[in-house]
Amino acid sequence: MKPREIKPGIYCVGAIDWDRRLFDSLIPLPDGTSYNSYLIKGNEKTALIDTVDTTMQEVLINNLSELGINSLDYLVANHAEQDHCGTIPQVLEKYPEAKVVCTPKCKGMLIDLLMIPEEKFITVNDKETLSLGDRTLEFIHAPWVHWPETMLTYLREDKILFPTDFLGSHLATTDLYVSDEGQVYEAAKRYYAEIMMPFRTTIQKNLEKIEDYAIDIIAPSHGPMYDKPEFILKAYHSWAFDEPKNIVVLPYISMHGSTRKMVEYLVEALSRRGVTVKQFDLVVTDIGKLAIALVDAATVVIGTPTVLAGPHPNVAYAAILANALRPNLKFVSIIGSYGWGGKTVEQLAAMIPNLKVEILEPVLCKGFPKEDDFKALDNLAATIAEKHKENNFT
Ligand code: FEO
Repeated sequence: MKPREIKPGIYCVGAIDWDRRLFDSLIPLPDGTSYNSYLIKGNEKTALIDTVDTTMQEVLINNLSELGINSLDYLVANHAEQDHCGTIPQVLEKYPEAKVVCTPKCKGMLIDLLMIPEEKFITVNDKETLSLGDRTLEFIHAPWVHWPETMLTYLREDKILFPTDFLGSHLATTDLYVSDEGQVYEAAKRYYAEIMMPFRTTIQKNLEKIEDYAIDIIAPSHGPMYDKPEFILKAYHSWAFDEPKNIVVLPYISMHGSTRKMVEYLVEALSRRGVTVKQFDLVVTDIGKLAIALVDAATVVIGTPTVLAGPHPNVAYAAILANALRPNLKFVSIIGSYGWGGKTVEQLAAMIPNLKVEILEPVLCKGFPKEDDFKALDNLAATIAEKHKENNFT
């Protein structure tokens, strides 16, 4: 994408990656992504906010040339992850006079990751400012959105917040600003679930920290910008602060149909009791969809057959992932079928130490489920419905 003017002297100069389908070799990107980079010209100095992923370095370098940028004073690195910093070496090669502006922790990480020489850096403290002449950058330290070194940059005169990954979305679009709120809500919630949810309490603090700033535009490092900031701030507030809802997430695997029968029965039993259930067959599910569902769920019931004396490996993967994402769950249970024995419950329980949950009595059955097993599933559904009611999860 060619440079696009946001305001006189402020340009979006990053790259849209329509075809990328996996991030960190882990996270599905059904809608691609973008690596947003912003150029800000003051009447004395010029700054670039973040760069782009190395794979798209030519887009950024060409955009800077097209804008006729002959010298660059500051290269602000809000975050050290390579999708934003990967092109710093190439920008410094083109503009050897530029200084990299970042937090002290980010400096260390950039030296480690990209071997940028020490003398290239200016480190900034929380709330420190940098003048571009008629424009002022203020740096807001915001660790753990989603690495320990992250900061946000606020352009005072224009009331633009550049919050790095915070508040962003993996979404490739030609729209400079959000135009389809439904689409961006889903993409931003997916992003929150996969990247930010593990740091929910620091997200809460960072949301509070930016409450005092007048913000007209939020310009994140992925996805479209927000010219109605309240849209994303309200959504984040709800995801980070709200109590869980009356929702059960049910990820499962079935090899020969017995566990599937139990899952189907439990879904009916919960639904009859007014509990919303989101069921995910882990053979085909997009783990991003599962992560989104975990944002609001009060309970997870894991469905697994016993295989090789433990849970199915796909279920173990989902449990480890859920443990890492640290959703605000309150209850967990396990259901499934076994042939002759095993340690399924013990092994799964050991995989979720981060989840501060009450474990509800699992229902494991030998072979295909029978009358007593269905009764046990009814009891589990009744217990879950009652627990949700007691806690006012609606
Ligand atoms: Fe978009 Fe944490 O990098």
